[in-house]
Formats: sequence, C-alpha cells, structure tokens
Amino acid sequence: MSKRVLITGGAGFIGSHLGDLFLEKGYEVKAYDNLDPQVHGEKASRPGYLNKEIELIVGDVRDPEAFSKALKPVDILVHLAAAVGVGQSMYEIVRYTSINTMGAAVVLEEVVKQKDHIQKMLVASSMSIYGEGLYLCPSCGEVTPKLRPSAQLAERKWDMLCPTCNTPCTPAPTPETKPLFPTSIYAVNKRDHEEMFLAVGDAYEIPTTAMRFFNVYGNRQALSNPYTGVGAIFASRLLNNKPPVVFEDGGQSRDFIHVSDIAKGCLLAVENKKADGLVFNLGTGRKLSIMDVGKAIASELGKPTDDFIVNNQYRAGDIRHCYADISRAEKILGFKASTVFEEGVSELCQWVSSQTSTDMVDIATDELKKRGLTR
Ligand code: UD1
Repeated sequence: MSKRVLITGGAGFIGSHLGDLFLEKGYEVKAYDNLDPQVHGEKASRPGYLNKEIELIVGDVRDPEAFSKALKPVDILVHLAAAVGVGQSMYEIVRYTSINTMGAAVVLEEVVKQKDHIQKMLVASSMSIYGEGLYLCPSCGEVTPKLRPSAQLAERKWDMLCPTCNTPCTPAPTPETKPLFPTSIYAVNKRDHEEMFLAVGDAYEIPTTAMRFFNVYGNRQALSNPYTGVGAIFASRLLNNKPPVVFEDGGQSRDFIHVSDIAKGCLLAVENKKADGLVFNLGTGRKLSIMDVGKAIASELGKPTDDFIVNNQYRAGDIRHCYADISRAEKILGFKASTVFEEGVSELCQWVSSQTSTDMVDIATDELKKRGLTR
C-alpha cells in the first residue's frame, strides 16, 4: 500500500511542488491549508495549480478538531504551514506567533495523540534563524557577527566588519552549527518550529527532521503578496512597469534555491533514516547579490536592467550575507541542487509573464516606513 502523507500549507508555493513530487513517487497526498487571503487572494478557492490527485482540506492549524481529522490515517506529516512575512511579523507579532508557534503546538498535541500511526515528521525551518551568516576575518579567522550596529548603518556603511577587530570581513558558507541569532519574530517562530518538532519527535520516538530553507524562488510564488521573497517582488514590479526598489546598495547577497530542489531535498530527508533527529541546510551553496538577481530578472523579462531605485536604506533586522554550507545535506542525504539560477530565473520569468499581479510593494514599504522599520 502506498504511504500517506499530509502536508500542512500544502496548497502553497512550496507545499504544492512537494505534493507533486510525492505523487510522482507513489505516495498518497493530502494538503491541509487555510488558503490565507494574503497568499491566495480574497474568497480563495482551490488553486488551479494544485494537482487534482491531492485531497485538499481547508482548515487552520490552530483548530485541533479539524486538524485531528485530517491527520487520522496519515503515515508522514510535513509541516510547512506558516505566516511568512518577515517585515510584517515585526508589527503583527501576536498573529504571527499565534499561527506559527501556537499552530505548531496544536499540531504537535494531535501528533502525540495519534503517534501510533505517524512514522515520520518533517518541518520547514528557515535560514532566517541564523541571522547573519558565517564570515572570515583576515586576522581573527571565522567569526559569527550579530547584526551590523545601527551607528554603522546610519553612516550607510553596508559591509560587515569583524566584531572583534573591526576589519572588513568576507562571507563564508554557513554550516548548521553556526550559533542562531534570529532577528525577526518570524525567525524566532521558525526556530520554535524546529525545536518544538525535534523535541516532541525525540520524546515520543517519532523520527523527525528539520529543513532550513534558504531563499526559495520559482513558479507559484504569490506575486501579489508584498511580503514574499525578493525574486517574486522584483518580477511583480517589473511586470507592472515599475523599477524594482533595491535596499542598501544591492551588494547584499543570498543563496537562491529553486523550489524543485527544495522538494527534492525534503523527499530525500523523509526517505532516509539517517536524517532522523537532524537539521539540514537546503541551499545551493552559491551566493548571488540582490542587484545581480534584479538584473537577471529584468533582462529575462525584456525590461531595463539599469533603471532600479537603489534607495540606500535598510530594513530593520536585514542581514548582509548568508549562504549555505551544504556539506551535511550532501554527505548524509546525497543532496545537490540541480537547477542553476540562470535556468531557474528563465523558468520563473516565463511563468511570471503569464500571470497578472497587483503590485503591493509600495503599500508594504510605506507600512514598514511608518513603523520605523526601514531607515
Ligand atoms: C527572509 C527570511 C527568509 C525567508 C524570506 C522570504 C531572514 C534573514 N530571512 O529572507 O527566511 O524565506 O525572507 O520570506 O529574515 N530586497 C530589496 N528590495 C525588495 C525586497 C527585498 O532590495 O523589494 C532585499 C532585502 O533588503 C534583502 C534581500 O533583498 O537584502 C532579500 O530579501 P527577502 O527576499 O525579503 O528575503 P530575506 O530577508 O533574505
């Protein structure tokens, strides 16, 4: 008999891709999702991209009765459901912590009640829990700085300085062992997810793995959600013939991983016993500057690549650089991202061109500004 998997957040961007892959591998898939209007639009119904073979149960992760029913005949639980806007999490603190941390608490209590049939749990964590990535200082070696001091940022000096000797330092791949310094409510919630799932998994002997996703991009990302990742934001702006707004000087970098690789990494972790009890980075190991990402998207969409608004401001809590050390996922899971950014961005742009999106970025930026969260 095929194994049954329940994906919370299964109607979303990452969840729907993971659902497709599970189906392809012969699993039976159910999605549990609240079809959040910020992501799916007002009066949302089942998204057209969701595979017809996936059973969709519309429900909130904080509703124990609905979730308990959805979990009943399941072998594997993948918990992706979360409120995901980093900036928004800094002013909707109660809502975020309720959906994310309390949601996980409700889910886990139901898991404990039904532990007899749950063979594996996988939870989505995030690179955001690291805060800044790992850096190399020419004199001190490896350093793990916290956020750049506000006095430094006030002078518009964007590059990271060694916390010990103040020398400019360079980014290095960030391993899972780097100390965690979450700098937003969202990131704190994600650390909660990881630790709550691993603690319950350990105590009740349910094999559990946490995956730290780096910056995920690809089709089905919610284009009209201003709190989505920078790739979708830039594409949406360009589609609406507005120049992307680049924070700082555009030299900050991230590790952009295509959603299909995230799905592959999750499947590997579900199917490999050696992953039990561990956390894994899921990134590509390559860093790209935000300016280069913007240029690649603009060029693919046939829009000007030199007409960006570089606003020389920063978002509170933003980091300068973080990219993944992928050696643990490589060694234990045999994971390697297979979509290079140049291919992935072309696929992203083809998809974006077929979509209509309302550009909400100005409204969201004003919201942050009003609250002193961009400076
Ligand atoms: C954050 C989270 C990450 C989450 C992602 C998407 C952190 C450290 N990480 O990543 O876990 O998956 O959000 O929710 O909190 N930028 C612009 N212009 C824009 C938008 C963004 O220049 O219009 C810049 C930002 O200043 C930042 C970079 O692009 O330097 C990436 O931003 P974003 O896509 O929001 O993701 P992160 O903050 O890296």
